[in-house]
Amino acid sequence: MAATKAQKRKLYKNKEKVLTHWNIRHAERNKAKLIRIAEYELFNFTWIATVNAFIEQGKLSNRKKVLDIGFGWGRTILGLKTFLPEIDITGIELNNNAIENAKIVLKNYLGDYSNIKLEVGDAETLQYEENSFDAVLSTRVFQYLKYPQVATDHMYRVLIPKGRAVVMVPNKINIYQFLFYHTHRISPFTLKKWFYNAGFKKIRTGSIIFFHPGIYLFSSESPWVKIEKLITKVPIINMLGGITWVSGEK
Ligand SMILES: C[S@@+](CC[C@H](N)C(=O)[O-])C[C@H]1O[C@@H](n2cnc3c(N)ncnc32)[C@H](O)[C@@H]1O
Repeated sequence: MAATKAQKRKLYKNKEKVLTHWNIRHAERNKAKLIRIAEYELFNFTWIATVNAFIEQGKLSNRKKVLDIGFGWGRTILGLKTFLPEIDITGIELNNNAIENAKIVLKNYLGDYSNIKLEVGDAETLQYEENSFDAVLSTRVFQYLKYPQVATDHMYRVLIPKGRAVVMVPNKINIYQFLFYHTHRISPFTLKKWFYNAGFKKIRTGSIIFFHPGIYLFSSESPWVKIEKLITKVPIINMLGGITWVSGEK
């Protein structure tokens, strides 16, 4: 049975429930419809803003080895590969169902995904060695974690010196997300605290997605994208978008 909004907001407190919820969600996704959903969610306003923020905050244009934590069906991976084909991406997800879905999407859009590593893994027990990645990214995953500080510490550990980390989550101080978003929400101040505690330097926070998520059809050419970019430069207001991010350097 589908979880109610109240149940989803409590998911982050219980690892077993998060696992079950996402096992079912990924397994139930209709494979034939996956490409259609991808078309609806790709190349739109939210996606472009997310991918741009990762590239900018992660300084990805001069970084090679990148880890995406909790890649879902792979839209960030696809975005990064579209704009920066040279980067070498590893993605982790809680279970194999997500990996199978991502393979379908990546195959459809990239043809060959053999150079992308998709692995089962948990943000809170990240299994990579120190100094494994030039950048570590995650979007809309930390709101499910019971121990987000532990996950942030792992991000720091697996980075090379001067490696960059970027985490995005639904923003608690965005009024729309605060009232309506179906999962736990987190403020940019909390994100900043986790990064500070982990040892990150050059910590910055901000946000993206200032319009209702229903405005999904805008392409990167849309004036709305330009307006959004302008808003992200206005102090204080730039903290209030629907998705907040934090970035830092090891
Ligand atoms: C809202 S989806 C976001 C997916 C993707 N990042 C995106 O933006 O399209 C949340 C994802 O986080 C994954 N997830 C939840 N807890 C996780 C954990 N501890 N480690 C890795 N992935 C996790 C879930 O399996 C799910 O696919």
